[in-house]
Amino acid sequence: MTTIIKNGTVVTADLSYKADVRIENGKITEIGQGLKGGTELDATGCYVMPGGIDPHTHLEMPFMGTYSADDFESGTRAALSGGTTMVVDFVLPGQGQGLMDAAQMWHNKSGRANCDYSYHMAVTWWGEKVWEGIADSVKAGITSFKHFMAYKGALMVNDDELFSSFRRVGDLGGLAMVHAENGDVVAELTAKLLAEGNTGPEGHAYSRPPQVEGEATNRAIMIADMAGVPLYVVHVSCEDAHEAIRRARAAGKRVWGEPLIQHLTLDESEYFHPDWDHAARRVMSPPFRNKEHQASLWAGLMSGSLSVVATDHCAFTTEQKRFGVGNFAKIPNGTGGLEDRIPMLWTHGVGTGRLTPNEFVAVTSTNIAKILNLYPKKGAVLVGADADLVVLDPEKEKVISASTQQSAIDYNVFEGQKVKGLPRYVLTRGQVAVDDGAVKTQEGHGKFVGREARPAVNRALSQWKDLTAPRPVVRTGIPATGV
Ligand code: URP
Ligand code: ZN
Ligand code: ZN
Ligand code: ZN
Repeated sequence: MTTIIKNGTVVTADLSYKADVRIENGKITEIGQGLKGGTELDATGCYVMPGGIDPHTHLEMPFMGTYSADDFESGTRAALSGGTTMVVDFVLPGQGQGLMDAAQMWHNKSGRANCDYSYHMAVTWWGEKVWEGIADSVKAGITSFKHFMAYKGALMVNDDELFSSFRRVGDLGGLAMVHAENGDVVAELTAKLLAEGNTGPEGHAYSRPPQVEGEATNRAIMIADMAGVPLYVVHVSCEDAHEAIRRARAAGKRVWGEPLIQHLTLDESEYFHPDWDHAARRVMSPPFRNKEHQASLWAGLMSGSLSVVATDHCAFTTEQKRFGVGNFAKIPNGTGGLEDRIPMLWTHGVGTGRLTPNEFVAVTSTNIAKILNLYPKKGAVLVGADADLVVLDPEKEKVISASTQQSAIDYNVFEGQKVKGLPRYVLTRGQVAVDDGAVKTQEGHGKFVGREARPAVNRALSQWKDLTAPRPVVRTGIPATGV
């Protein structure tokens, strides 16, 4: 089957130019002028861009006593409707569970996906089985490993475990990832706030100040440097974390930071809304910050010190959020955003002049495709690339509303926001999933995309080289003459 996208402007991370795009058997086969034959999709007045890649989702994930409400079907339908054609979801092994057992659980759920997907593996506990599991995971095409420095008593790993795991991942050519918050400090602050009667959703924000994120980000960067592994910091929300990333990058370290569309556009005032539900629906970690932190994140995107905009889509219904009435620490952490990331970032990034259309493509698709070794299969408009494409109409507008969304939850954190820049067409491996604005997904169309490790890059990284190599004994015993 042949499809031709006609009369649009191709926009990649590098270039913008007028051209038609021919698609055959799910791949781009020709880019040029005046292409003919097959089904034509009219892109007059539109940008033809690589589909968005959201590298941070939690679909149907067991978490805080419940499951996130969007599964691989509704989650990927939401993604496609908003111009995201690939998600990378986190496999979350239970305590003591083997990594490949957990990966199999994810494969069982993801068969319903409407678009392509890949996985990151979470390292949620440490032992010989995990050491082995990391190698099995790399062989199975899951080459990035997330570590939680928060959620003490549940998912958190300590520094010794972090260092061991980072070294293992580094040796195998993988990518280390961190949720960077100091979980010990968060636990202390949470207990203190609750004891003082501060039980509402605003307590969640008080318990996770920017310092806990800045400290953990810096610690993770230093540990990764000693371990010889590149590091990807998820959901960077504040200047304190951004500053640590900037410093690391300026020193030549392979460190990347990922702000979320939520932190870029919503601020901490949401937690002071008089309606408990309103505030609880926005409880996520890290919490929304003040406008100065927001400005820092935008500056990072504009200057290149922050590389990727994601969502951390981890949606819970109002009913689930109410598990935390009387104790903010029991509100399931997470917000949605999968279908709103592209239009929200286009509106607030390109629409305000902060990002060029090419920079927009870089931070929503191409950069993460390169970081995760998916490029140019994904994240590119090139002959041979998968035809995961968005035809974005910069004049098309809507007001975001839960009443028209694809996500399974009963509200939207961006409710009432007017966005400009919406998909006219979205294609997933050549199949039309959004057709002149109408969502027409096909359950089960999505395929798992495995990724290759990069051992050569990682071997070149560590300034410490191999910490286990024999070191000369310089002196022993006590000083001969005393001090
Ligand atoms: O609050 C959040 N971010 N929930 C999802 C899990 C995580 O920490 O990424
Ligand atoms: Zn996280
Ligand atoms: Zn409200
Ligand atoms: Zn997350």
